[in-house]
Amino acid sequence: MPSLRSWALAALTFAQAVLGAPPQAIPRANSVDTWLASEASIAVDRILSNIGSNGQYAASAKSGIVIASPSTDNPDYYYTWSRDAALVIKTLVELFRNGESSLQTAIMNYVDSQAILQTVSNPSGSLSNSGTGLGEPKFNVDETAFTGSWGRPQRDGPALRATALVDFGNWLLDNGYSSYAVNNVWPVVRNDLSYVAQYWNQTGYDLWEEVSGSSYFTVSAQHRALVEGSAFASRVGSSCTYCDSQAPQILCYMQSFWTGSYMNANFGGGRSGKDANTVLASIHAFDPTAACDDTTFQPCSSRALANHKVYTDSFRSVYSLNSGIAEGTAVNVGRYPEDSYYNGNPWFLTTLAAAEQLYDALYTWNRIGSLTITSTSLAFFQDLYSSAAVGTYASSTSTYSAIVAAVKTYADGYVSLVETHAMTNGSMSEQYDKTYGTQLSARDLTWSYAALLTANMRRNSVVPQPWGETSASSVPSVCVATAATGTYATAAVSSWPATLVSGTGVATTTSATSTGTGNPTTTPTSTTTTAACTTPTSVAVTFNEIANTYYGENIFISGSISQLGSWDTDNAVALSAIDYTSSNNLWFVTISLPPGTTFQYKYIRKESSGSIIWESDPNRSYTVPATCNVNTATENDTWR
Ligand SMILES: *[C@@H]1O[C@H](CO)[C@@H](O)[C@H](O)[C@H]1NC(C)=O
Ligand SMILES: *[C@@H]1O[C@H](CO)[C@@H](O)[C@H](O)[C@H]1NC(C)=O
Ligand SMILES: *[C@@H]1O[C@H](CO)[C@@H](O)[C@H](O)[C@H]1NC(C)=O
Ligand SMILES: *[C@@H]1O[C@H](CO)[C@@H](O)[C@H](O)[C@H]1NC(C)=O
Repeated sequence: MPSLRSWALAALTFAQAVLGAPPQAIPRANSVDTWLASEASIAVDRILSNIGSNGQYAASAKSGIVIASPSTDNPDYYYTWSRDAALVIKTLVELFRNGESSLQTAIMNYVDSQAILQTVSNPSGSLSNSGTGLGEPKFNVDETAFTGSWGRPQRDGPALRATALVDFGNWLLDNGYSSYAVNNVWPVVRNDLSYVAQYWNQTGYDLWEEVSGSSYFTVSAQHRALVEGSAFASRVGSSCTYCDSQAPQILCYMQSFWTGSYMNANFGGGRSGKDANTVLASIHAFDPTAACDDTTFQPCSSRALANHKVYTDSFRSVYSLNSGIAEGTAVNVGRYPEDSYYNGNPWFLTTLAAAEQLYDALYTWNRIGSLTITSTSLAFFQDLYSSAAVGTYASSTSTYSAIVAAVKTYADGYVSLVETHAMTNGSMSEQYDKTYGTQLSARDLTWSYAALLTANMRRNSVVPQPWGETSASSVPSVCVATAATGTYATAAVSSWPATLVSGTGVATTTSATSTGTGNPTTTPTSTTTTAACTTPTSVAVTFNEIANTYYGENIFISGSISQLGSWDTDNAVALSAIDYTSSNNLWFVTISLPPGTTFQYKYIRKESSGSIIWESDPNRSYTVPATCNVNTATENDTWR
């Protein structure tokens, strides 16, 4: 496929031409912008196609079951993996938080399906046998156990599921749906946290289901889950002492995977340890409020950047698709250089992860207002900016601007490669051929689409919720082999509200139906109350602002009421650019406000340097509707 190849090189040449230009000159709309805008909406559709039972390709899957791929042979991925499903649903929860309200049904169905799956006895064990069954990696789509031989247990699944559910549970708590967080979400999360606390210090199979040992991806996911799980436990009126006792010890153990120049993916397996495992660990441990901490392997940390170079460089010579591409320019990357599955090829989700780590780093540097080059990360930076030297560079310096622009170009290069190898209808399988670039292995891999969506969000500075990294990055001085026993109990499948509206939930509980036998026939009933005409206690107001921005420039809303920061720009509310395209420069945010409130406001631009640009006068004015049964409103504005 020489045409694809030359297309990719043309894209790279374009990227290199941009590299030398000052950051202001970077065009906002390049080919990656345009492609991502359409591919992001295709990705959401393809994910929903792969979720039972309404999904086009998942019709025989039970409600809320996420299939790995519609492919039923060569390879047969028509199963649900706990890991893949959790990562996909975490992505949907993020999109839901950012205004994709149509995703609520899929998320709620997933919660219910996991309450059922937790009770299914399987070759790893069962819930009632000290939670052992939670380590089972995959199930049949009809929610029965898969009994064939497999690499089991895999201990990342419960941790990743807890993370996805805690994110949704926190949204419920923040928006007036506390009873659903307590009754529907917490019981599932508690089982998973118990499992992590009890088994984190035992071996299992890695995320690629090949190495029996200890995997960095797994322990990193476990650490994060226990930290945010404990905070969530407090919020639902419970506690997780076993989370608190084990999390610091997992963090302690995590440090031992650092080789001195890169993160070793596994203890066990007999490989170099250079593996997408560690890049995926870094992006899934990203906390947008954290510093560039090495201890939790934040995407902008010296260790994670050094690791990015070692990992990506390990593929420069093994794929002919990459031949002749210099260090510091994006290449197609796969799981690990020794990979022989389908003869070993680049994967979509790993090439996207290489981009996502860099977008995360850019976000943090812009937030902190500086970037630091250490002796550990120097080689990474020198590939992109040959005169890079150890030091800290404030965002006001030309060195900072040049490096940030180079990192952005480098990151976009990975997305360009994915664009090149995606099909014209947007389909992405698991792999693409290392020589010809044609798609291989399972078609329409659900995780490929989730990886596209998270990379796209980070590229637009849309970041996940903090998970508590800033109070969980202190490493104990002595590491000990330890475990704690938690609580295992069947989670009930309870009903849900028909619609979840930001800021307007009414904390009423509907009857819960116990699934003590794991009986999957319970159908959640949607409930709406058609009470007498009442003015809601709050209204979810969506502010849409059309503003043409360049990368690194973000739109906020500032105003006279406390919800808008009382004109203090440090407390202004960020808008999201998740739906921003070159043809529709949309920024938006939904804010919960008391009906009848009148206030003044303006939009502001926050530059990557930290400086503020106000809209021109006069101040804008808005009155929140106070209308019978109206609990949402929209205000459309254009930057002036
Ligand atoms: C258990 O933890 C100890 C202390 O960090 C560590 O030395 C040991 O390798 C760990 N074992 C496993 C299987 O996680
Ligand atoms: C995308 O196009 C390919 C190649 O024509 C086709 O095989 C595949 O079924 C299409 N994907 C979807 C989801 O329609
Ligand atoms: C906008 O509101 C601010 C804060 O109350 C005030 O200082 C400023 O004068 C107002 N601008 C105009 C043009 O009225
Ligand atoms: C805002 O714009 C949207 C999309 O163009 C439109 O559907 C909606 O009616 C507008 N709302 C108001 C209050 O102008």
